[in-house]
Amino acid sequence: MQPLQYLKDQEADSLAQLKEFVRFPSVSAQPEYRQDMKRCAQWVAGYLSGLGITSKICETGGHQCVYGEYSVSDKVPTVLIYGHYDVQPPDPLDLWKTPPFEPVEKDGWLFGRGADDDKGQIFAHIKAVEAYLKTTGSLPVNVKFLIEGEEEVSSNNLELFVKNNAGMLRADVALISDGSQYGIDMPSISYGLRGIATIEVKVIGPDRDLHSGRFGGSVANPINMLCRLISRLHDENGHIAIDGFYDDVYTAGEWEKQQFAMLPFDEKEYLATTASPGLWGEKGFSTLQRVWTRPTLDCNGITGGYQGEGTKTIIPSWASAKISMRLVPDMDPADICTKAEAFLRKICPDSVTLVVSRRDGCKPVQVPVESPWLDAASSAIEQTFGRKPFFKKEGGSIPIVETFKSVLGIDTLLFGLGQPDSNCHSPNERFLIRDFHRGSRMSVVLMEKLAGVRGAR
Ligand code: BES
Ligand code: MN
Ligand code: MN
Repeated sequence: MQPLQYLKDQEADSLAQLKEFVRFPSVSAQPEYRQDMKRCAQWVAGYLSGLGITSKICETGGHQCVYGEYSVSDKVPTVLIYGHYDVQPPDPLDLWKTPPFEPVEKDGWLFGRGADDDKGQIFAHIKAVEAYLKTTGSLPVNVKFLIEGEEEVSSNNLELFVKNNAGMLRADVALISDGSQYGIDMPSISYGLRGIATIEVKVIGPDRDLHSGRFGGSVANPINMLCRLISRLHDENGHIAIDGFYDDVYTAGEWEKQQFAMLPFDEKEYLATTASPGLWGEKGFSTLQRVWTRPTLDCNGITGGYQGEGTKTIIPSWASAKISMRLVPDMDPADICTKAEAFLRKICPDSVTLVVSRRDGCKPVQVPVESPWLDAASSAIEQTFGRKPFFKKEGGSIPIVETFKSVLGIDTLLFGLGQPDSNCHSPNERFLIRDFHRGSRMSVVLMEKLAGVRGAR
């Protein structure tokens, strides 16, 4: 029996297994899920071992990662398949129509936290490897799996893990499905990801909350001040006002401009997927350009003062905001954090104390569009989906891709099997079941095509 037939016959089982995977509340950000993280890693490692793949759970200093390896010959390329088993926190829970960790099928979608990002996508590739091993007892290429548990919290420990295990992870190309297609039945390959830099800004005033009648007008209010600072981070055209912010920003080439112009894009439909009242962004750029090729700055959370019911007349002691900045080539996260802090210090009045803490970030990546690997990926997509892939970029970040390049010296094939309206990171995350199955079949074809790439090793 052929691998593709195996996948067809297995569809119901595959979906049931994916549901098992989604049932683990593997939330990396919150300590109360520690044990669930471990159990989920065990499940992944156990699944791979069950297929005859040599697998182990590895300590990274943070959440564990799972490594698996199946070698067939040193005459064929080695493919490093990366994914993440950790998921975003499910809250706000009251907005979920069904519980986040009780996966359910509805209208052709599988709903559940992680169904799209990234459990469904990485599992599609695992099933493809399974299809070969169960039917032919071998694989067209050597495969290494790296499935980590800290992607949603910046992959802070994985970079060192990759450095320390560069020999073990040695491969010819990396493969990641952790994004989206261009739309329904619009398979795509991404050739770029934005990077990210994050800071937390705290404005401190009095050492305790003060009566706003007794002191209002005599001391600075940290919330008012923080809001003033934040409002000055953009100018009226949506440009970021931080000094030197755009110094290293690349200019999109002609090829890229043409590529974007070829993509069907409907502002109204796009707006509808966000259910926002209107679009907003940097003047002088189209929506796709803004999201894929321009740096941005967003507050992710803001807190301070009294949030309970009714009124409480105080001048709060402090206020703070979490800010993330998305980066494009050739911006550097550390440099951007330094520039952001310097700008905030410059504009912050002496009447409050400013504390800026940096979090980790990652560099943007750009994958060469002309490579035999990409050609193999294109033809695998074409063969499976019946049409050529759309070439696109992603506005999101996958920190380890840059490390694969700088440490292992390899490029990454960036697939997205999900949909732009998969609700990843939002309530009611979902994965199109048809994409899950097609994704596995595409992966089967892909391995065969990758085996034919010459001059690999
Ligand atoms: N799968 C996403 C990356 C992504 C997002 C790709 C949107 C395509 C479109 C990934 O799991 C993710 O959420 N990454 C984080 C990384 C951050 C925590 C460093 C992100 O982009 O916010
Ligand atoms: Mn992801
Ligand atoms: Mn994510």
